[in-house]
Amino acid sequence: MQLAVAFAVLAALAPIDAAETVLGAYIFHRHGDRSPKSLPPTNLTTLGYEQSYTSGQYYRSRYLRGSSKIRGINEDQVKLSQLSITAPVDNVLQNSATGFLQGLYPPVGQSVQTLANGRGVQAPMDGYQLIPVNTISTGAGSEDVGWLQDVSSCTNAKLSSNSYFTSEEYRHLKSNTKAFYSSLVPVVKDTLDEADVNYKNAYIIFDLINVATIHNSSIPSSDVLTNETLTQARTLANAHEFGLAYNNSDVARAMSGKQLAGEILEYMNSTITAGTAGSSANKLSIQFGAYATFLSFFGLVGLPKAHIDFTGVPDYASSMAFELFTDANVESGFPSTDDVQVRFLFHNGTASNSSQPSVYPLFGGSANTMSFTDFSAKLGEFAISTTEAWCRECGNTDGACAAYASTKDNNHAPLQQDRDSNGMSAAVGGVIGAFVTLAVVLSGLFVVMMLGGFRIVSKRALGAKPICDAENIEEKA
Ligand SMILES: *[C@@H]1O[C@H](CO)[C@@H](O)[C@H](O)[C@H]1NC(C)=O
Ligand SMILES: *[C@@H]1O[C@H](CO)[C@@H](O)[C@H](O)[C@H]1NC(C)=O
Ligand SMILES: *[C@@H]1O[C@H](CO)[C@@H](O)[C@H](O)[C@H]1NC(C)=O
Ligand SMILES: *[C@@H]1O[C@H](CO)[C@@H](O)[C@H](O)[C@H]1NC(C)=O
Ligand SMILES: *[C@@H]1O[C@H](CO)[C@@H](O)[C@H](O)[C@H]1NC(C)=O
Ligand SMILES: *[C@@H]1O[C@H](CO)[C@@H](O)[C@H](O)[C@H]1NC(C)=O
Ligand SMILES: *[C@@H]1O[C@H](CO)[C@@H](O)[C@H](O)[C@H]1NC(C)=O
Repeated sequence: MQLAVAFAVLAALAPIDAAETVLGAYIFHRHGDRSPKSLPPTNLTTLGYEQSYTSGQYYRSRYLRGSSKIRGINEDQVKLSQLSITAPVDNVLQNSATGFLQGLYPPVGQSVQTLANGRGVQAPMDGYQLIPVNTISTGAGSEDVGWLQDVSSCTNAKLSSNSYFTSEEYRHLKSNTKAFYSSLVPVVKDTLDEADVNYKNAYIIFDLINVATIHNSSIPSSDVLTNETLTQARTLANAHEFGLAYNNSDVARAMSGKQLAGEILEYMNSTITAGTAGSSANKLSIQFGAYATFLSFFGLVGLPKAHIDFTGVPDYASSMAFELFTDANVESGFPSTDDVQVRFLFHNGTASNSSQPSVYPLFGGSANTMSFTDFSAKLGEFAISTTEAWCRECGNTDGACAAYASTKDNNHAPLQQDRDSNGMSAAVGGVIGAFVTLAVVLSGLFVVMMLGGFRIVSKRALGAKPICDAENIEEKA
């Protein structure tokens, strides 16, 4: 009797319906622990490597084996056409991706390949599996800069984020937190100028302190850093970053989230198209990116309505996953698109067997799953998936956008550009100016950018092919 009850409880808890088949997944992942942004170039620490690796192990047990294994995916020996791995040109994100992949597809052990001449060749490093991390240009160098839109070339997104600094909310917080930030000066004065220790640099300050509390056992004036103070610094940084990443009444700000939406839809489309055609390609995509993209995406899909935490910066090695699954019978082949459903999962910090991602409802609803058709329609309302759409929404007209600049369509486009003519630009220009100054203050950050020669262009704007270069490369190779 008790056993039966226990069994019933277990069954109710089981996340995956026995009849369910997972068809594919898209994961967006933050990097692991890193050195502070205020001391560029940043790098992935040993702790960060371990976090990424652990997360890779978790997703291995979720998607490569067990009851929610992706149908038809290789379990042990990687097959590159089934995967798409992307990260911007950024040391921290690229290395996080590599660490994750080591956990996802561990070495397969010694195996000897015999050549035509009879010579046997052994794989190095116990059969370590080589998985390319394709680069995307959105977010290049993002971990080296303090301000999210620094890595975007989207004019309207920059203008919109900058206008946060002239908002009522910002002014209010800045003046009300003066005393709080003054109390932090002794802690950060070795790195930051006293004049820069205020709400304007809320994230940089939080980041510096957060890294120090993880790595430095001798922080100056550490008695200031009570739990309350740390929470306050984090809460203010969250408000600051969410303010820069998303504004309900000015969605131009959420450009990075819109691009991610386009990438997710594109990949899911390729999963369904390949599955329907009986191909084993395009099953799992993992993109590494910055917290700012999480935040603008959270805003766009209404996650703050599901939980207020979604207005806060996700911890290191956080991940969100979009699962494509079906309850239909798949014995006879891939289900029809009408039978495909989507589930959203998120985990704040490193996912592992003992701390697993949870399911959250999207778009302010209460259902934990939705049909692919609905998901695709809802995301499609704001997803950016062509160069032309990107150029139009960003109001960019040069470079790769020049081709679209003269089309009639452009007339409805640059909402934000109108600001230039109504006197907004001076204030905004001032804020941009202030940021450049700060960048110089921060240990030659600006110099790094110049020397590094980061050419920051939209991923859309780069190629002749508009979307998801990575998947296409896999197909060609
Ligand atoms: C990582 O960054 C820290 C702090 O900036 C620096 O001391 C260390 O040498 C860097 N490590 C590598 C491998 O670059
Ligand atoms: C959000 O956008 C509206 C409309 O542009 C603006 O009035 C408001 O100040 C913005 N709020 C923030 C916090 O940026
Ligand atoms: C810890 O902080 C102190 C004071 O800022 C600094 O001198 C020291 O180098 C730091 N140690 C580490 C390991 O970062
Ligand atoms: C501060 O927080 C840590 C971890 O959350 C906890 O272990 C510790 O007891 C707290 N200290 C105080 C003084 O509340
Ligand atoms: C995938 O995209 C193609 C081209 O835009 C479209 O015709 C097709 O209906 C899409 N498939 C799904 C399942 O959304
Ligand atoms: C993640 O956790 C941090 C606290 O560690 C919190 O401030 C933040 O809001 C959380 N973010 C999300 C998206 O859950
Ligand atoms: C996690 O759990 C799965 C299933 O129970 C198991 O196969 C796997 O080895 C576990 N992973 C780790 C890293 O413990």
